[in-house]
Amino acid sequence: MSDLETRRLIEAATQARERASAPFSKFLVGAALLAPDGRIITGCNCESASYGLTMCAERVAIFKAISEGVTKAVRVAIVVDTNEPTPPCGACRQWLWEFGGDVEVVLANLGGELARHRMSDLLPFAFDARSLGG
Ligand code: THU
Repeated sequence: MSDLETRRLIEAATQARERASAPFSKFLVGAALLAPDGRIITGCNCESASYGLTMCAERVAIFKAISEGVTKAVRVAIVVDTNEPTPPCGACRQWLWEFGGDVEVVLANLGGELARHRMSDLLPFAFDARSLGG
């Protein structure tokens, strides 16, 4: 990923993070997916008073992308205001794998990029459509 593309994706995720609705955890997360056609689709975490119905930023971005006709992510950025990189949760790793395959995931904070991982490192030996056979 070029530095310019990385910065664009991180900036989009940072802006989405500002729209996070996280009154219970106060842990604001922004995510941005790069589509094959160059479009950027963002998401923020959306918390429910029931806690369990909360939806993570990454999955909001994926569901938004699907609803807008985007079928695949080619890169992902996740922005959280932490000193250390914050990795995506297990449920989001599953969705990111199924939606993007072995894409690069850039983890950043408000100061910029902190770490890059490939999805195959974040979710080795994953279950996906191939596991269903056929
Ligand atoms: N969260 C995300 O948005 N993405 C993750 O991958 C991990 C957790 C959100 C969910 C909840 O609103 C808050 O962070 C605290 O768990």
